[in-house]
Amino acid sequence: MHKRQIGKSEHTVNPIGLGCMGFSEFYGTPINESEAVATLQFAFDQGVDHFDTAEMYGMGANEKLLGKALEGKMNEVTIATKFGIARDRDSGAVIGLDGSEAALRASCEGSLKALGVDCIDLYYQHRMDPKTPVEDTMQTLAALVKEGKIKAVGLSECSAKTLRRACAVHPVAAVQSEYSLFSRDIENGVIPACIELGVSLVAYSPLGRGLLAGQYNAAGKALEKGDYRHTQPRFAGENYQANLALVETVRQVALRHQAHPAQIALAWVLAQGKHVLAIPGTTKVKNLQSNLQTANITLDDNDLAQLDALSANVKGDRYGDMSTVNR
Ligand code: ATR
Repeated sequence: MHKRQIGKSEHTVNPIGLGCMGFSEFYGTPINESEAVATLQFAFDQGVDHFDTAEMYGMGANEKLLGKALEGKMNEVTIATKFGIARDRDSGAVIGLDGSEAALRASCEGSLKALGVDCIDLYYQHRMDPKTPVEDTMQTLAALVKEGKIKAVGLSECSAKTLRRACAVHPVAAVQSEYSLFSRDIENGVIPACIELGVSLVAYSPLGRGLLAGQYNAAGKALEKGDYRHTQPRFAGENYQANLALVETVRQVALRHQAHPAQIALAWVLAQGKHVLAIPGTTKVKNLQSNLQTANITLDDNDLAQLDALSANVKGDRYGDMSTVNR
């Protein structure tokens, strides 16, 4: 599959990257470190050239893991990480959002060290800080670009308005937001703004946090007890059952293409335009391989009509507290 540009830069990556969060926490018990390293190295060998992590994933552990797995190869790939979500060191609880200069600089130094690099390719504000104007945060990010500590700036889960304010200070290369067959709320504001401003849209949770991969159904795999997804409205009670029923349509389209439902979900995301990059998360070699084969699938008008109709029937918000997204 042809590489796609990140923002207006000369920099290009494969349209399917790898979301690394699940290697450290949130989606059940993480796999052990040696397996995780092997999967990341396999991804690199398969040509994955865009790895997405964050300071908050495992409170530095995810960045360290990536640095370890890709030691000596970090210059051959695009490494994206994120700052701005503060956690309590002991309990791990999220204690605030911070885009101040002091916090940002401390996070940046920590991420450089954990990743073992001199410069971060793409550095996102993870969630917008209501106390610090985005203009101030962008000034600090612009200074970090000048100082050679980061190459490009991104914002995650910002609104179209915030994106415009940010771009007035310094170019934004990418917006990262949840975007999938089930999560299309950003089509009304953020995506048109990205297209207008030449900003890439990096789609996280393109598989609806696993729902669209079709492994969960009445007879299928259940979520582990401590899995973070239990706290999410779409995975709760009747909503969950209704959403699982919608996945049957994805399965039908997959059958027509002799493909996996996850491939159909990814093909739909990539069909939305050249400005879109997807970063499905997986910790398994088999799933990674399958996801990368999405490039061979072209959805026709009939497929797209069936798939496009799904989002209107999804039950439940994508987060229990929607106040920190699209802000
Ligand atoms: P996120 O961006 O939040 O990681 P996502 O990409 O929408 O969310 O979905 C990630 C989930 O989909 C993970 O639980 C992952 O499980 P594994 O780590 O066990 O792979 C699952 N997933 C990813 N690709 C898959 C595939 N091809 N088949 C089945 N499950 C898959």
